Amino acid sequence: MGKARILILGGTTEARALAAALGSRADLDIVLSLAGRTADPAPQPVPVRSGGFGGAEGLARYLREEAIGLLIDATHPFAARISANAAEAAAQCDVTAFALRRPAWVPVEGDDWLSVHSVSQAIAALGAKPLRVFLATGRQEAHQANAASQHHYWVRSVDPVEPLLTVPHVSYIHSRGPFRLADELDMLQKHQIEVVVTKNSGGEATYAKIEAARLLGIKVIMIERAEAAGLPVVETVEAALGRIDHFASSLMKRGV
Ligand SMILES: NC(=O)c1ccc[n+]([C@@H]2O[C@H](COP(=O)([O-])OP(=O)(O)OC[C@H]3O[C@@H](n4cnc5c(N)ncnc54)[C@H](OP(=O)(O)O)[C@@H]3O)[C@@H](O)[C@H]2O)c1
Repeated sequence: MGKARILILGGTTEARALAAALGSRADLDIVLSLAGRTADPAPQPVPVRSGGFGGAEGLARYLREEAIGLLIDATHPFAARISANAAEAAAQCDVTAFALRRPAWVPVEGDDWLSVHSVSQAIAALGAKPLRVFLATGRQEAHQANAASQHHYWVRSVDPVEPLLTVPHVSYIHSRGPFRLADELDMLQKHQIEVVVTKNSGGEATYAKIEAARLLGIKVIMIERAEAAGLPVVETVEAALGRIDHFASSLMKRGV
């Protein structure tokens, strides 16, 4: 009987945690796929492939050629293209698939959020008055800040922003989560930040900035997720492991 072949589309803390939980399983053959954007990606506990597949067609080809039995989309909640491709490729190849997507953050008492639907809307919502802005949207969309050059931006990303912003007042912070509350409080206070701009990524690794903003009475412009149709969703690594066990035992019963 062959091993069950599983492809995890990753680039998130959850994908890494799932891979770590599966790495030692003798009955499974796991490959983790990364987009290849980060220059120095965190070490991963299972074999990794890197780079795009070439759209839904390319991913479907990969699923067939590599005889993948289960596809898990554990990409970031804002990585919409790869998620749509995953749903389409799984349907094309009739491969079992599901998404692991952490729930969105919801405001709690003391939070001062303004919800918007894109980075450009968030920048527009800052208004005309110059503000000290912590921009935590990731480097790919940071250049949207060029549209409002009156503000001073602190842009945090794992890799350097390229090309640099054209605004006159900008500072770059290079660091990789998870972030601790004490450090986020420090950072927001040190730079006298007046507004935080962030995506509603969900999860614990980057939540400390939201807590810190709440404690300091700082406004948050929250970029909400687009509604994603497609694969069935589980919200936790534990739930994903349950589905994987179910998949592996159904293969065993069929003697595959
Ligand atoms: N968007 C965010 O805010 C964010 C934040 C943290 C981490 N990430 C991670 O960074 C990666 C890229 O995000 P994105 O927003 O640029 O994605 P995207 O817009 O949905 O994807 C763009 C293209 O990148 C390739 N790709 C994306 N994820 C891939 C993966 N895991 N393995 C192989 N190819 C992948 C695919 O190329 P082909 O069509 O050629 O296959 C896809 O069409 C994702 O893996 C995501 O989990 C994203």
